[in-house]
Amino acid sequence: METSEQRKTSRRSFLIGGAALGAAATGVGRVLAVGSPAAAAVSSGSLSAGDAAILRFLSALEILETDLWQQYNELGGIQDSEVPGGTGNRRYTAALKNLDSDMDQYIHDNTENEFTHFDFINAYLVSRGVQAVNLDRFRTLPSSKATGAQQIGRLTNLMQLTVDTSWWTRYRSRTKNPDFGDTFPPAVPGLLQGQFPAIPRDDKDLTPDKHLQAIANTAGFHFATIEQGGTSLYPSLAQRVTDVEALRVVLSIGPTEAMHFQTWHDKAGNAPPLTDPTNGLVFPDLNAPPFGGEDFQTNLIMPEPTTFLNRSLPVCSIVRPTNTSGAASGALKFLTDMGLFIGQSNAFFTLMQNLAAEADAATRTC
Ligand SMILES: [Fe+2]
Ligand SMILES: [Fe+2]
Repeated sequence: METSEQRKTSRRSFLIGGAALGAAATGVGRVLAVGSPAAAAVSSGSLSAGDAAILRFLSALEILETDLWQQYNELGGIQDSEVPGGTGNRRYTAALKNLDSDMDQYIHDNTENEFTHFDFINAYLVSRGVQAVNLDRFRTLPSSKATGAQQIGRLTNLMQLTVDTSWWTRYRSRTKNPDFGDTFPPAVPGLLQGQFPAIPRDDKDLTPDKHLQAIANTAGFHFATIEQGGTSLYPSLAQRVTDVEALRVVLSIGPTEAMHFQTWHDKAGNAPPLTDPTNGLVFPDLNAPPFGGEDFQTNLIMPEPTTFLNRSLPVCSIVRPTNTSGAASGALKFLTDMGLFIGQSNAFFTLMQNLAAEADAATRTC
């Protein structure tokens, strides 16, 4: 069993050295042809090419997810050896705590979980003879200049987000399901109408108070937006996994995304209603007209039962969407549309699109 010191060391060497665990474990010091058709064809070992492609895409998304959560943790989470790097931003952390006094703990724990997701999937890929995923050459985006953030290259951009909060009403509808083509109104319409920071870009963003609270509120809704995506992605892709053990990996990680989502759904409802005086972004009172009621009331965080598979079947409380067709490409588009990759290179998008296309080409073969 790994000691805490070994764990700390390996985590730190990832953060500083930038060598992904999987690549290091195989002694391969460069990014192999991940995402290329050749990689799927020749390096899948005892896994089918389709299973390898699904796990590689999930690994890539988990690396990206870790990158964003690490930025949140440096500024608004608990700083310790489990998730090292930042020094914390007192005012941003305090604004986040207006959503729940334990926000820093939850941010820390979500961040640590994400590290383990991609570490594990990469190590598992290697154990099955498949090349691990490494995105280090794309760590080129700037860090926040606010007090508390490390100054290192990032994979993701949390400073120009366009956040789709329609999951709020999607999980409250008793009749609609996105897999039937149904659409859902957002809880915070303003977050879809511009580009907003979810972390302070520099220390000027720490005032006035309502501006900083709007940034913390944006983060609060973004947390749930990210995690509901993971909640859908894993069951969507699991339907096309062939190998039983690989399926176990997917089925065992996926529900932890749902645990995250459920927590963040609850906390987002505590975001103080306000208008950001610097840009007009409105966080409405979701418990009062024209909001409120079954679709918006903030304590209705359990999924309502809804239509599933066929409208002639009884309603069921389910994760939605879970349609498997195009799920990987859809997840990549969802993250791209929210502005998470603003500033990334064409090579990054090409690689990610290839990984998604290969995962979406996977078919269950038994
Ligand atoms: Fe994850
Ligand atoms: Fe997650």
